[in-house]
Amino acid sequence: MAELTFSSTSAAEVEADALVIGVGADGDAAVPLPGSEAVDAALGGRLAAVLADLGATGKAGNLVRFASLGMLPAPVVVAVGLGEVGGEAAAEPESETLRRAAGAAVRALAGRSRVALALPGPADVVAEGALLGAYTVRPGTGKAPVGHVVVLREPGAPDATNATNATNATGARAAALSRAVHLVRDLVNQPANTLFPAALADRAVAEAQEAGVEVSVLDEAALAEARFGGILAVGTGSSRPPRLVRLQYAPPGATRTIALVGKGITFDSGGLSLKPPVGMEYMKSDMAGAASVLATICAAARLQLPVAVTAWMAIAENLPSSTAYRPTDVVTMYGGTTVEVLNTDAEGRMVLGDALARAAEELPDAIVDVATLTGGQVVALGSRTTGLMGNDETLLRAVERAAARADEPVWAMPMPPEIRKSLDSPVADLRNVAGNGNRDGHMLIGGIFLREFVPDALPWAHLDIAGPSWNGGEPYGYTPKGGTGVMVRTLLALLEDTAGQGMPGEQ
Ligand code: BES
Ligand code: MN
Ligand code: ZN
Repeated sequence: MAELTFSSTSAAEVEADALVIGVGADGDAAVPLPGSEAVDAALGGRLAAVLADLGATGKAGNLVRFASLGMLPAPVVVAVGLGEVGGEAAAEPESETLRRAAGAAVRALAGRSRVALALPGPADVVAEGALLGAYTVRPGTGKAPVGHVVVLREPGAPDATNATNATNATGARAAALSRAVHLVRDLVNQPANTLFPAALADRAVAEAQEAGVEVSVLDEAALAEARFGGILAVGTGSSRPPRLVRLQYAPPGATRTIALVGKGITFDSGGLSLKPPVGMEYMKSDMAGAASVLATICAAARLQLPVAVTAWMAIAENLPSSTAYRPTDVVTMYGGTTVEVLNTDAEGRMVLGDALARAAEELPDAIVDVATLTGGQVVALGSRTTGLMGNDETLLRAVERAAARADEPVWAMPMPPEIRKSLDSPVADLRNVAGNGNRDGHMLIGGIFLREFVPDALPWAHLDIAGPSWNGGEPYGYTPKGGTGVMVRTLLALLEDTAGQGMPGEQ
């Protein structure tokens, strides 16, 4: 994790290995933005000309760099595009544009240790983007991420000279948040030969203890004793048995409790309903939901949010073997619901059904689950927009607001009543897929299955992050290749809103 400082030092004086400034696009011209004045002065008023010579466009994400040749203490200047300014150089960029620009610049500067940013806009947003971008996969072959980020306050900003609590709180939030996102990325990127169920549970214990979160782990014997039939069925194909991790953060005086539930399949081969090789390529990432709820509760504890949080990680490895669960098995889930398994690759809903039923027993005020649940999510919404479903309009709107505040795309999906019938089984309460290989409304079926494990009166929301949890393309903004850590910022925003307002969604 990069260290973060805020400073009101001028860009002309700040000691750093590189300095980042903002550039806007005004038609075809690149316009230096507020924050870059000191650089312009050091260059004798020639910044716009230098940017033009280097072909800077000012378009969002466009990067150019030049050597300062001793005219500034920072040897390198990076000018990052913030998009159209419509002739008004003072126009403020959108938060996400700013966050991505800061992230892209810091990502491009990997290998340097100390980077200062003089970008127009709120320091907390710049800090967030910069810290989120200061990441590389470990163990990796690339350069080390930037180790120290210095966010320069705009000279005129209200808190520019006032290094008080506001600054500290801003820094603490950005740091806790990016630490949480980095934890998820690390766990998602870690291969399944070293991140097996017990290893993920051990890591959860270590992270929880460091953050001051209570933690307990149910091993396979405890799971059998308490009849967690879904988690056990999925885990039985692997020689490395399943786990259920319960984490609790309960600050004194909190009046609301939110339960978070995450899918933690350390590797999803599909089981006996084996996936084709191409479909298996990224399935070490199938524990992203569990990693997200772990990271979120640890961040909430670090920030001492005045809301109680319980997090459940439903962890198993889905492999084919002579002990694996099979299509046509009837499984008794935690709480007694029976499920006819028709496809062992629909394993996420099996482990989550157990965990949701168990989480609901404690009567939290709301439950939110996060899961890489269906390929249907990717088909419907693509690789960057999370699918949202649930049984309570107020909670759904609260999740949407939190996601909007975090600038993470989320789209609410319906749960059409006629689809429920496709899960009727002649031998059990439910079957785990529609059957006959029918994949119509595939993402919706996943949500509709999960709903059966939560009482109607308990507000519940489901986030399907199958696509967004993994960036299979090139890095962009603050998002690296591989694990993204998506939804951690949304969940943290939801917890903050709940702490501030009483019930999630109450205004
Ligand atoms: N982990 C997968 C879903 C997934 C697919 C995540 C692609 C990330 C990228 C899940 O367990 C799965 O296999 N779902 C099946 C369900 C089907 C058998 C009903 C799917 O989506 O094909
Ligand atoms: Mn699967
Ligand atoms: Zn899966």
